[in-house]
Amino acid sequence: MSSENSKIQEKSPSESHAEVIVRMFPSDANPAGNVFGGEILKHIDMVAGIVAQRHSQSNAVTVSMDSVNFLKPVFVGNVLTLNARINYVHNSSMEIEVKAEAEDIVTGIRTVTGTAFVTFVALNKNGKPMTVPKLALKTDDDRLKFEEAKIRMDIRLKNRQK
Ligand SMILES: CC(C)(COP(=O)(O)OP(=O)(O)OC[C@H]1O[C@@H](n2cnc3c(N)ncnc32)[C@H](O)[C@@H]1OP(=O)(O)O)[C@@H](O)C(=O)NCCC(=O)NCCS
Repeated sequence: MSSENSKIQEKSPSESHAEVIVRMFPSDANPAGNVFGGEILKHIDMVAGIVAQRHSQSNAVTVSMDSVNFLKPVFVGNVLTLNARINYVHNSSMEIEVKAEAEDIVTGIRTVTGTAFVTFVALNKNGKPMTVPKLALKTDDDRLKFEEAKIRMDIRLKNRQK
């Protein structure tokens, strides 16, 4: 395991937090006319990738997406806000939590429509996993999320198909 980022000892979750806002267009719809789940997954993966790359300051690839919940439909015309934060790091792996919120721009009503956990692995210039900075846990929420994520990561690795 290489450690190109060894100069940066640790970073807090707030340093890599990301928010992406996108408007849903008719071209994002499924045949029933609401937004296609795969389109939302693309944005979840993208915003989580921004967080992973901000934290690791390297290339980072998706290795797992789990607990993806589509809680409510997203409609064409909605403004979708995707919030992502890092919960946990091990050596090269990072768990990113994403929350998607749809806004009806006319009424101003915002609804949480989806949640997911995405695991990224940081890669060095040779495409090999590399050590990322540790997480500086600054708040009670950071500490709680870290402990919960560690449990999820252990389960994820147990269930991993090689
Ligand atoms: C990332 C990749 C190089 C890792 O290869 P690997 O042989 O699994 O490497 P390792 O077993 O050494 O694992 C490296 C890290 O990945 C983690 N990891 C690998 N698969 C994982 C999974 N499904 N879930 C969670 N973590 C995983 C390991 O736990 C390890 O983490 P650590 O360094 O923090 O301990 C390889 O899985 C890969 O290239 N995957 C394709 C990624 C990609 O292209 N994604 C884009 C979409 S196709």
